[in-house]
Amino acid sequence: MSQIVHTEGESNTSSARKAWMKESIGPKSSPLLKRDANAFLHQSLSSPCVSTIAKAEGIWVEDLDGRRYMDFHGNSVHHIGYGHPRLITAIKAQLDDLSFAPRRFTNDPAVELAEKLAEIAPDDLGKMLFTTGGSDANEVALKIARAATGRFKTISFWDAFHGAGFGAASVGGEATFRSHIAGPLLPGAEHVAPFACYRCPYNHAGPDTCGLACAKMVEFVLEREGDVAAVIAEPMRAVPYVPPSGFWKAVREACNRHGALLIMDEIPTGLGKTGKMFAFEHDEIIPDIVTLGKALGGGILPIAACIARTKLDVCGDFAIGHYTHEKNPVTARAALTTIQIIEDEGLVDRAAELGEHAMDRLMGELQNIPIVGDIRGRGLMFGVEIVDDRADKTPGNARAERIYYACLEAGLSYKISQGCVLTLSPPLTITRKDLDCAIDIVVNAIKDEC
Ligand SMILES: Cc1ncc(COP(=O)(O)O)c(C=O)c1O
Repeated sequence: MSQIVHTEGESNTSSARKAWMKESIGPKSSPLLKRDANAFLHQSLSSPCVSTIAKAEGIWVEDLDGRRYMDFHGNSVHHIGYGHPRLITAIKAQLDDLSFAPRRFTNDPAVELAEKLAEIAPDDLGKMLFTTGGSDANEVALKIARAATGRFKTISFWDAFHGAGFGAASVGGEATFRSHIAGPLLPGAEHVAPFACYRCPYNHAGPDTCGLACAKMVEFVLEREGDVAAVIAEPMRAVPYVPPSGFWKAVREACNRHGALLIMDEIPTGLGKTGKMFAFEHDEIIPDIVTLGKALGGGILPIAACIARTKLDVCGDFAIGHYTHEKNPVTARAALTTIQIIEDEGLVDRAAELGEHAMDRLMGELQNIPIVGDIRGRGLMFGVEIVDDRADKTPGNARAERIYYACLEAGLSYKISQGCVLTLSPPLTITRKDLDCAIDIVVNAIKDEC
């Protein structure tokens, strides 16, 4: 197995975590956490859990002891906030009307959802399949790319995450999902350094200085391999890293030159999170296939989608995604209503506007703090990198973890990415007041750590 880095955050065994568990977990949460740890297989980043949950409402989650947290992670499902009343009403009505559809019996909500997604996706991204989760949607995309090109190789980024299935994990590049799984993953899954990699020799100097070396590397591998089916990547890395300007245009053109499809995994970024309906719209390119998931189910139900250009409807004689809930009217209704809520409440523009405000505040208040490296983001997906040494950007993992638990203590939950990036991703429905309150918590915790 190749050398890969751990890109995820909080450790299950750190002293910061142990102190938090000891001091902050209440008498009702504690027994449930023990039962959870006994009942579930342990794995990184879930069981054993860090807390319990009794309620999820709007931007808030509440544990069994009544401790409330603003949720700035939410597994990226909560664009419209938890338990949106309009969505709950629509799901209840759908349950009364038609609660399931076997795959070969089509139904109104499933077709309406497909038509709606084709309407909001640009160009001829117009044919699709629904799956239960994002990992499966990415695997459908890979199968379409194989069928359409007659090739099997892929290029993807080290450090990326595309899901936990074997196919999705093969194109992923995170240690957590690869390193301890004995045996080979998919053959032909080539990886390159991602854009804005922390080891970039140009130190993110920008396209004028680096000449987009990272895009050139994608083309180099496309050329050398000569028979790559697809490049698959997130348009904006959820770490979060914004692509250098011109990166995606260069990769799009390289894919065209070498006969490879471009698949954009918009599972966390899609549906407005970055201030555009699809994050790739910032970069003025159109992929051949796009996958959506997470927030598509409105933070209540699991549904994902693989949306392809109409000419990629080439798999009619075999099965590429026979999922039991492929045409489930209830999950389809949830997705359709979620998109309607995003449109009717103007949440895409709201993400752009509030994201700008958040970035201005973070820049203004943290730019000169010695333990803050980079501050970056797009829309309501932003991050603050914690470093030990600003000059050479030594990652400040232990500091980041202490800051994380201090924020949790103050009522703000989020996740740490790449060991040291405080990754903040609130619902698009958040009020400016709550956003400011969360930023105050982060700023104060960082200043206290100095
Ligand atoms: C970029 C990306 N792709 C795919 C997935 C997988 O989605 P799911 O967990 O629904 O399989 C995730 C989940 O975190 C993700 O962040």
